Amino acid sequence: IKACSKTNNKIENIEMEDSILQIITKLFGNAVKLACPEITDLPIIDISLSGNKPNFGDYQCNSAMALANLYKQLGKKVAPRVIAQQIVEHIQPHPLVNKLDIAGPGFINIFLNKDYVQKYLSAIFESGEVKPPVVKKLKVLVDFSSPNIAKEMHVGHLRSTIIGDSISRLLEYLGHDVMRINHVGDWGTQFGMLIVHLQEKFPDYLIKSPPLSDLQNFYKEAKKRFDEDEEFKKRAYASVVKLQSFEPEHTKAWNLICDVSRKELQKIYDRLDIKLIERGESFYQTRMEQIVKELKTAGFLENDDGREIMWGGGTVPLTIVKSDGGYTYDTSDMAALKQRIEEEKVDWVIYVTDAGQATHFQTIFACSEKVGILKKDKHRVDHVGFGVVLGEDKKKFKTRSGETVRLLDLLDEGLNRSLSKLKEKEREKVLTEEELKTAQESIAYGCIKYADLSHNRNHEYVFSFDKMLEDRGNTAVYLLYAYTRIKSIARNANFTLEKIKQVSQTHAISLDHEKEWKLGKALARFPDVLLKIADDLFMHHLCEFVYEIATTFTEFYDQCYCIERNSSGEIVKINVSRILLAEATAMILERCFYILGLKPVSKM
Ligand code: ARG
Repeated sequence: IKACSKTNNKIENIEMEDSILQIITKLFGNAVKLACPEITDLPIIDISLSGNKPNFGDYQCNSAMALANLYKQLGKKVAPRVIAQQIVEHIQPHPLVNKLDIAGPGFINIFLNKDYVQKYLSAIFESGEVKPPVVKKLKVLVDFSSPNIAKEMHVGHLRSTIIGDSISRLLEYLGHDVMRINHVGDWGTQFGMLIVHLQEKFPDYLIKSPPLSDLQNFYKEAKKRFDEDEEFKKRAYASVVKLQSFEPEHTKAWNLICDVSRKELQKIYDRLDIKLIERGESFYQTRMEQIVKELKTAGFLENDDGREIMWGGGTVPLTIVKSDGGYTYDTSDMAALKQRIEEEKVDWVIYVTDAGQATHFQTIFACSEKVGILKKDKHRVDHVGFGVVLGEDKKKFKTRSGETVRLLDLLDEGLNRSLSKLKEKEREKVLTEEELKTAQESIAYGCIKYADLSHNRNHEYVFSFDKMLEDRGNTAVYLLYAYTRIKSIARNANFTLEKIKQVSQTHAISLDHEKEWKLGKALARFPDVLLKIADDLFMHHLCEFVYEIATTFTEFYDQCYCIERNSSGEIVKINVSRILLAEATAMILERCFYILGLKPVSKM
């Protein structure tokens, strides 16, 4: 991890609730200001973790080299080591920092104080929870999942659903006010053909609900007619116009279709425990009419072969009105961003879609800024893109027969595979039926989510049940097992939650053993990991953190006895302080799992 905070010339206050990186960055920022008064445009304070060698300290500041270059530009030759020395002399004493060392050409190694980390961990037991780092509360709208009604919800939408949910969970945990919006495609031209097909196939649709259980197939039929039959096509176009002017019979037909789709989608959201508010493109119809008028009047639109376009500075303009007078995906996103900023008064909008839509969103942002809807100093907007999902053959993810994979089938396969995995380990012999089912679901949905979240979302990723169900390496299965093992330590020592709370008041968590200290420091980085993700929205940092915690815990547990038994297996000694360290680890892991949308079980 790296802290990057632009420094101004003010000396900053260090607050009680600051995270480790925030404290170090402020300490060094302030020291640099005092140590280098000649430099007006101070560089970013560059702090990173210092590798694994104990004599390198825990963190390091690498700014002396950059400062030496700035002196050079002023015509002064100062060695980086001398600057490092100056910085160290100006560091104000702080309980977090135990010692500073200068190494090599001018690196400053920072050694943390055990007391500080101990206090961080004790606070978890004092409050009974892992408190999030303190941030300014914002109203955030996360636009995710957003499949198209009647068309298939495919693995790309599954990625959006998983990533968007996790980002929402993180921001909620940080205390923001989060709106989870499902911007479904419920208003496009495809509804013309769907409605006409419905009207002709089920003429009594207004009095009797048509059997639309197979919407996918219904869509295919309609599409076939649309492509082959010119007359049908004309009726379909006329039908869109009627729908968009809210003609009642068309609205009814549209509602019937949306309802069927909605029920199907809800099954997936329920299984994955994902909450969303549906607010599709249709919601913006009147707002689209409104914004088109405004853009016209203000002179932002340009006629291009009959269509009205708007430029946002890039190479592709937005199509605001098509030559037939209809609106587009671009129009709806302009109207939606205006609605979100001006009516919902959000501070931050996050869009989670495939990377292919990056240009679309960059242009939407640029045009909104041009019009004065989006103000970069007041609002934050992010397009969180992701790469395509591939099959194990590295080609586009398809079934064996070459069809798109139905998401419900995919989830079912996950359930089957996780059950066989549990049976392979003969878990059905030790778990009750209920416990087995909970474990099965936890593993199945957990591994699908985790496989997605643990990869850098910018890259394409290969969907492989075999890989995600491995119980080694950075997988959900490994981590869920690691968690149950950690939880079993206190259980085996007969420490109830109450007892843990009670002993935490009298016993300090010891960090004297090298492995205890390593684990303690890793745990204390939790707030910084969250702050980093809130900045760059890459959830895989959290997965890397969880994996590091699990492996660091194993190192600790291999070398540090928590419970000592005699040769006949009786407990002879309990190391209370280590049981507390294990419990703190479990509590932080629980938090991480929650943010990642995983449901840990205490037995599996
Ligand atoms: N329905 C779109 C799709 O399937 C995604 C919508 C994303 N949200 C938005 N405001 N454009 O690709």
